Amino acid sequence: MSAQVAASPNWNVAGLAFRNPVLLAAGTAGFGREVDDVLDLSAIGGIATKAVSVAPRHGAPPLRVSEFAGGMINAIGLANPGLDAVRAHYLPWLHQTYPNTRVLVNVVGNSVDDFETVVGGLTDLPGVDAFELNVSCPNVKAGGLEFGADPVALAALVSAARATTARPLFVKLSPTLGAGVVEAARVSVEHGATGVTLVNTMPGLVVDTARRKPKIGFGTGGVSGPALLPLGLLATWRVRQALPEVPIIGLGGISSGEEAIQYLLAGASLVGVGTAALRDPRAPERIARELVAWADRHAVRDLHSIIGTLEWPS
Ligand SMILES: Cc1cc2nc3c(=O)[nH]c(=O)nc-3n(C[C@H](O)[C@H](O)[C@H](O)COP(=O)(O)O)c2cc1C
Repeated sequence: MSAQVAASPNWNVAGLAFRNPVLLAAGTAGFGREVDDVLDLSAIGGIATKAVSVAPRHGAPPLRVSEFAGGMINAIGLANPGLDAVRAHYLPWLHQTYPNTRVLVNVVGNSVDDFETVVGGLTDLPGVDAFELNVSCPNVKAGGLEFGADPVALAALVSAARATTARPLFVKLSPTLGAGVVEAARVSVEHGATGVTLVNTMPGLVVDTARRKPKIGFGTGGVSGPALLPLGLLATWRVRQALPEVPIIGLGGISSGEEAIQYLLAGASLVGVGTAALRDPRAPERIARELVAWADRHAVRDLHSIIGTLEWPS
């Protein structure tokens, strides 16, 4: 078991074979190349790319990231080189360099058309294994309400993406949904999603008291890191209970194998590591090793067998 989890790509989720269940979370490792000198992409299961939009985005003003006791707050503004450059340069490099590391392309947009254009523009590219739809962005045509918070818009978006690609589709949902995460996951799956990614960052504010201003340039930002762990776990558990067959990528606050195991027990089939990898680029491979060590310590021969086996107090 140990060798299997660590080495050969035999961790199967959504019809894809992963080397192990550990992924790099979207936006925290670019398109792989940006972290290539510090992080070994051949030691992890896969990478969710930085969000890809139709046109290049320059992102939010500085300061874009600030730390606090519970983790980090960021407003990057989904800066990225845009569909054409990602298709021509970034994804081909990733596939050629790491052919056995699965690639989930994270997609953003402000309209259903935007999502369709990005998914349609990349679906035939070798090395694109799946899409992850970031539905925490505002639907401009519907007055700026987030897609994920509006079941009608969410249904339209997922249906359109499903009609555009045959690849697995994961819908990434926000912790702001609370118990509503179950309904959003259900709508997503009913309209063609393969699985869900739980959770995105949580909106927050951190203040610079000397300047009496928000610490980050945009004002509000997304909270990530340790403060998210209980929120991501609860979202994962809720969706697993309601939709036990639906693959879940669980993330939020994972910085150790033990925390990744918590997500597997709550029902995740894959786990993502974001903030911990920004702090320590070796964290994802260490977490993959710690999963194996946990399994050995607890005499678990197949880590798949623990997924969703959290026992609820009666
Ligand atoms: C700097 C930064 C950039 C991010 N960019 C994206 C993004 O482009 N698309 C997305 O869906 N999530 C993005 N996220 C959210 C992460 O993928 C992840 O859901 C969140 O940070 C929780 O995981 P963590 O606590 O391990 O960081 C970003 C997070 C951070 C910290």
